[in-house]
Order: sequence, then structure tokens, then C-alpha cells
Amino acid sequence: MDDSGWAKPYRIKVVEPIRRPPREERERLLREAGYNVFNLGSDDVYVDLLTDSGTGAMSQAQWAALMEGDESYAGSRSFARFLETVQEITGFPYVLPTHQGRGAEHVLFSILLQPGDTVPSNAHFDTTRAHVLANGGKPMDLPVPAALDPDLDRPFKGDMDLVALEALLRNPSGRIPAVMLTVTNNTTAGQPVSMGNVRAVSALARAHGAPLFLDACRYAENCLFVREREPGYGKAEPREIAAELFALADGCTMSAKKDGLGNIGGFLAMRDRTLHERCREKLILVEGFPTYGGLAGRDLAALAVGLNEALDLGYLQDRIGQVRWLGERLRDAGIPVYWPPGGHAIYVNAGRLLPHIPNGAFPGQVLVAALYLEGGIRAVEVGSAMMGPEARMELVRLAIPRRTYTQEHLEAVVEALRRIRDKARGVPGLRLVEGEGPLRHFVARFEPLG
Ligand code: F0G
Repeated sequence: MDDSGWAKPYRIKVVEPIRRPPREERERLLREAGYNVFNLGSDDVYVDLLTDSGTGAMSQAQWAALMEGDESYAGSRSFARFLETVQEITGFPYVLPTHQGRGAEHVLFSILLQPGDTVPSNAHFDTTRAHVLANGGKPMDLPVPAALDPDLDRPFKGDMDLVALEALLRNPSGRIPAVMLTVTNNTTAGQPVSMGNVRAVSALARAHGAPLFLDACRYAENCLFVREREPGYGKAEPREIAAELFALADGCTMSAKKDGLGNIGGFLAMRDRTLHERCREKLILVEGFPTYGGLAGRDLAALAVGLNEALDLGYLQDRIGQVRWLGERLRDAGIPVYWPPGGHAIYVNAGRLLPHIPNGAFPGQVLVAALYLEGGIRAVEVGSAMMGPEARMELVRLAIPRRTYTQEHLEAVVEALRRIRDKARGVPGLRLVEGEGPLRHFVARFEPLG
């Protein structure tokens, strides 16, 4: 093997048995689940690509750190390590641990927002949007137009539309208590945000007196894309890129279930002392004392290690390389996928793979069901089932857990999609028989049409 690719930076020491139920069993299980894979038991799933959140494998160093976790209510040494790590990486002096990302969003938005406020973002994740709405605010997505074109090959389709942001900041309809940037941008297919865009958003936000907060769940993956794609960063260490990224912001919310390489955890970090004190008071009310914030000491200990591991260049090249490999294999097999591949997931264009199924018969959900039927694979719909008539694309997300699946597992995904492609014309649409409201996709039940 030459040195042009990446070298897999780990081998496997502990194994978790999985199985693929036989096809007749999968047929029955799918029917019983109302064609909604959220209703399946995980023991009945072969390759689980529902999410990359909290589903990764921890390293031996993280498992060792768990054992050393300090479970003291106040002032635990595990918190001290966690605090030091987050401060080192982000440069933010004030850090509040939370049980996961949405815990940080809950605290921040309940303090920052007043009814009628607007919060612009390159695109809000579901929970971020819901927290803005829950506090009477108006979430506003300002992705660059390229983000909505699934075929356009551009390096930074996660960027924010600067013209639209400036227009909003110059002429707001009410207060703008914060500008958010999601790095990478989950809602637009895990696409990265360029440093140039972060710099410009930061300058605009500052000029208009609005703090910039990063939704930093997948910031380390974003840093690798900056290194690979943005002129001037080709030799920079991910840690240096991260330092520059956070230096442009006033704070961040973080789900450490992604680039913290943990199974649970998150944090809220910032520069402003007064805001921190107000958030800390709220944290004690809804999450826990400020030195544990809804986590066990051992969780904090494992995260302190995981946050550093996620910035390792070899780790990131393997991570992004694996996702890209899957995207390229699928494209070569003639499966329409959102291009270019994102950091944490491949998004299959179900609308195009199943063109005979109208949006009202849920082509994405049909593909999700077919993936389980063909390969025991669990994915998630991001289209009309999730977003109703507002859906702009009918996509299916194949989210790749970190350090969890091998190339053989992903080969099985390619093979299942190939089989679905070959019989696509005969696959019927679905009818929604149960479930309503914005979170219906979690609990909905469907029936095949015809
Ligand atoms: N922000 C982004 C960009 C996310 O992707 C998520 C979670 C959150 C915030 C909330 O974090 O789950 O720790 O409370 N995304 C997961 C996913 C659930 O599957 O994409 P959380």
C-alpha cells in the first residue's frame, strides 16, 4: 500500500455482537413497526446509521478515564480536567457542562431570548430551532443558495448567506440577541463552513452588536475540511484551526456526543462573565451543579480525553475519509447522493432514486423502509415525513457513527442500495396512518399504498 491514502488509526479490541435477522423476519418487524424504523429494537438492526450522535466507540484511553471518574458533587477533579480541556481548545474562559447539546441550548436561549427576537443561522438544527421557538423567538435559516442544489460541487456549502445576513442586521424587525453558525451544517447535509465565512459573519455580527455563537457539535470535522479545502490551511494542525475558529466567536453550544467522542454530554461556553453568571443560575435549576451539569464525573473524564482525540489529524482523516469513501462508492454505483459528501453522513436523494413516488407518498420514508428490508440497515428520512410540505428535498441520511463500522459494513449498505435501485420502479409509496405535529416522524406509523 502506498502512502497516498490514510492509515486506519486503530484496531479493534472489544467487539459488540450484532446480527442481521433473516428477510422474512425483517418483513414482519417492519410491518409491526408501522414502516417507521424508530419503532425497531436495535437488536433487530444490522448496520445502524440512524445517527452519529452518542453512538461512536470510545478509545481505551477513554475507558481508562471512566474508571478514574470522580463522582463528587462539587469540585470534582474530573470536572477540572474537562474544564481545562475545553478552555484549551476553545479559548472560552467560562464553561458549563450539560447533559447533551440541547441542554446547552435550553440554558442559553432561555436567558438570551425575549419574545419577538430573531436568531439568524446558516441553518438551525431541529432542537436549536425548537428552543428558539419555545422562548418566543424566530429562528431564521440563511444558507447560501448552493446548499439547496444537491449536485453542485462546491467546497463550503455550509456557509451562511452574507448578503442576507447583512440585510437582516441592517434592518431587523426586532432584537437580534445572537447570530448562530452550525459547524458543520447538519441541516444542509453536513456541509462545512469556511473560515472566510466565519470571519465575515463574525465581523458583521460584531459591527451590529450581536454576539456570535457556534453550534460546535462537529467543529473538529469542520476543521479538517478547512485544512483540506481552504487556501492557506494545508499544513495547519486541526487544533490551530479550531483555535482560530473559536477566536472568531463569543461562545458556543456543544453536543459532545459528536466531536467529544462521548456517548453522552455537552457544554455551553462563552467569554461574557455576566451572561455566564445568568446561565449558571439557570443551569443549577435545570441541569445540575456547575461542576457536573447533568453528567456523572466519569462522563466528564471520558469527554476530556475524547475532545482531544477528536482533534487528532489521523483520526479526522480516517473519519472524513470513511464517509467520503461511502459517498464515492454510491455515486459510482449510480445512486443519487447529495454532493459533495458531508462530514458525518451521506444523504441519498430519494426523490430522484424513486421518481415515481410523489412527495405526498413519502419517497424518503419508502427508501428508509426498503433499506431495512434489503439489508437490515437503519437510516433516517429528512424530507416530507420529517418536515411536512415545507421539505425542500426528499433525502435519506446515512449517518456514520465514529470508529464503529468497518468497510465491510458499509459495503453492505452499498449493496442494499444497489438492489433497491434495480427494483425501484416496483416499490410502492406509503400512507401516513398515525402521527401529527412537528415531531411526528419519531412516532408516525405508515402503510404501503396499493
Ligand atoms: N446541534 C446539531 C447541529 C445537532 O446535530 C444536534 C444533534 C444538536 C445540536 C443537539 O444535540 O442531541 O446532544 O442534544 N443531532 C443529532 C443528530 C441528534 O442525529 O443529528 P443533542
